[in-house]
Amino acid sequence: MVKSPAEIAMMRRATEISVKAHLRAMEYAQPGLYEYQVQAEIEHVFRQEGAEGFAYPSIVAGGANACVLHYIENNDQLQDNQLLLIDAGASYRYYNGDITRTFPIGATFTPEQKALYEIVLEAQKKAIDEVKVGNSCRAAHEIAVCVITQGLVELGLLKGELEKLIEEEKYKPFFMHGTGHWLGLDVHDSGTYKIGAAKEDWTTLEAGNIITVEPGIYISPYIKAAEDQPEIPERWQGIGIRIEDDVLVTTEGNDILTAAVPKEIDDMQHR
Ligand code: GLY
Ligand code: MN
Ligand code: MN
Repeated sequence: MVKSPAEIAMMRRATEISVKAHLRAMEYAQPGLYEYQVQAEIEHVFRQEGAEGFAYPSIVAGGANACVLHYIENNDQLQDNQLLLIDAGASYRYYNGDITRTFPIGATFTPEQKALYEIVLEAQKKAIDEVKVGNSCRAAHEIAVCVITQGLVELGLLKGELEKLIEEEKYKPFFMHGTGHWLGLDVHDSGTYKIGAAKEDWTTLEAGNIITVEPGIYISPYIKAAEDQPEIPERWQGIGIRIEDDVLVTTEGNDILTAAVPKEIDDMQHR
């Protein structure tokens, strides 16, 4: 779980190659292309840069396909008013990158896409701030759940008191996975998250740990609102967003190994 300096050097190269591939995909993607064509560009960069290949099958998901968590068919045509979610990473000397970005296929976000993106971005940044020595490895997830639930309430997609919504996991139809996992020789690297049932049994972060931070919001066209929750208007349906970075815990704080891939709204529009 604590990477040696040599392992960190491998991880820097694996993530650097993964970054290059995402930058190429962002430059290349446009309406009318097929998801597999973007996948081909990404995987071309991996091999050109000396990676053995992908760390896991690349997810290139236009529009509502992003709501299928491990969508790997990558066969659909990209449409102008949709978002494109790309979750792809290179495997270099057996070490793995794991990056997700979500951006407009055309020029801009729709108001609904932008509103949801802003929530995920805030959740992701606040979660990354929790990745530091001495903190529980669960802290990032807790803050991400809080920001996402609050955001969904403000948009009228959930209703009720924040604490109760969190306790009753009412955010789960929209955000059904964890916020991160150990990363290294395996994409979901071996390592302990929790040794018992108590809150303090979550693993404490140490310098040299590498963990992903990847909150998301997914509004599937098939989403079923919980009994006491609002029906989701159609204009929100079919939007799936995740933002994922790979974060090294350092003695000073953390180092976002994948920070060179843009994620600010203004950098994702009119590319
Ligand atoms: N790409 C797999 C994951 O993000 O966990
Ligand atoms: Mn991941
Ligand atoms: Mn991923």
